Amino acid sequence: MKAAVYTKYGPPEVVRIADVPKPVPKPNQVLVKIHATAVNSSDWRLRSGSFPAGFTILARLGLGICGPRNKILGAELAGVVESVGAKVTRFNPGDRVFAGGGFGGHAEYKVVAQNKLAMMPVSLSFKQAGGLAFGGTTALYFLHDLGQIKAGQKVLINGASGNTGLAAIQIAKHAKAEVWAVCSARNFDLVKSMGADHVIDYTVQDITKSGQKFDIIYDSAGTAPWPRVKDILTSNGRLLIVLGSFWEMVQAPFVSRKSGKSAKSGTSSESSASLEKLADMVDAGDFQPVIDRCYAFADIVDAHAYVDTGRKRGSVVILVDEAVKNDGNHAG
Ligand SMILES: NC(=O)c1ccc[n+]([C@@H]2O[C@H](COP(=O)([O-])OP(=O)(O)OC[C@H]3O[C@@H](n4cnc5c(N)ncnc54)[C@H](OP(=O)(O)O)[C@@H]3O)[C@@H](O)[C@H]2O)c1
Repeated sequence: MKAAVYTKYGPPEVVRIADVPKPVPKPNQVLVKIHATAVNSSDWRLRSGSFPAGFTILARLGLGICGPRNKILGAELAGVVESVGAKVTRFNPGDRVFAGGGFGGHAEYKVVAQNKLAMMPVSLSFKQAGGLAFGGTTALYFLHDLGQIKAGQKVLINGASGNTGLAAIQIAKHAKAEVWAVCSARNFDLVKSMGADHVIDYTVQDITKSGQKFDIIYDSAGTAPWPRVKDILTSNGRLLIVLGSFWEMVQAPFVSRKSGKSAKSGTSSESSASLEKLADMVDAGDFQPVIDRCYAFADIVDAHAYVDTGRKRGSVVILVDEAVKNDGNHAG
């Protein structure tokens, strides 16, 4: 099968399309023929070796010191089940599925554990579903699991026009929160269209001088560390560190002990339960993936280059199987 592989850390050009063996599902795994995938911020990090401050040594130990051990990037996918392992009970060949997390999505086929897979929302095309899991599951995990978001709360989303930020706006609005979105002015219309009630241009206005206090600050831009924003949290407010340095994450439980305010960090997980929750929200009309650009598989290096700009809005999708460009359900 064809896959986009990289054998050393570096710029987009380290990625190339190559022939690799087609994977074979183990008893609890499903073989998915991938129709669409995405190049997202985690692919950029893993490819370039750019990790948040303090994480580089740990990350290199885990991923490969001299070069990546896992040579196929791609944390999310949408496709069709080709075959299932002997112990798979929840999926059948022909099912339209999506998944997120890990590696291996930048290829024609991937094996996925059945508890990391879900049926695609019926209302989405493969192209849209290829950009659904990463931002959606991250925002669900941070806002619901760590943030315990409640109706009526005031939520600040820093990095609101990125993939996880746009998802967070929608999930916060679905929870009936009041949303303040921080992004550059060129993205005001986009974040408002996703439901943001108020917008702040971080290049013009300092969020700490807005005169507002927030119940939740969701920081996916890494520019709202605890010392900077603790005074704009309400008395039991929570800072959710989606992007932060190693030390900010280590210190989070300790800063929390000193007051009712808290800082929480973690890593989202793309379980079937989380994917299914997202799919239900999509089919109920409460969530939509935002697709910024779409590239052919052969142009995946260009997709990486665009993601490297740091200015993408939402997802950058790759059509692995271009024949699905116009598949049945599509709006994007
Ligand atoms: N902990 C976890 O489990 C987890 C999971 C997913 C992602 N992450 C991390 O979260 C970060 C964001 O991910 P993502 O996929 O949402 O990234 P993304 O889609 O690449 O975000 C790009 C956006 O960042 C915005 N931005 C850049 N500088 C900013 C600033 N100073 N203030 C506010 N916004 C700014 C840009 O908006 P403008 O053009 O409007 O400036 C752009 O639209 C990544 O670093 C990723 O590694 C962590």
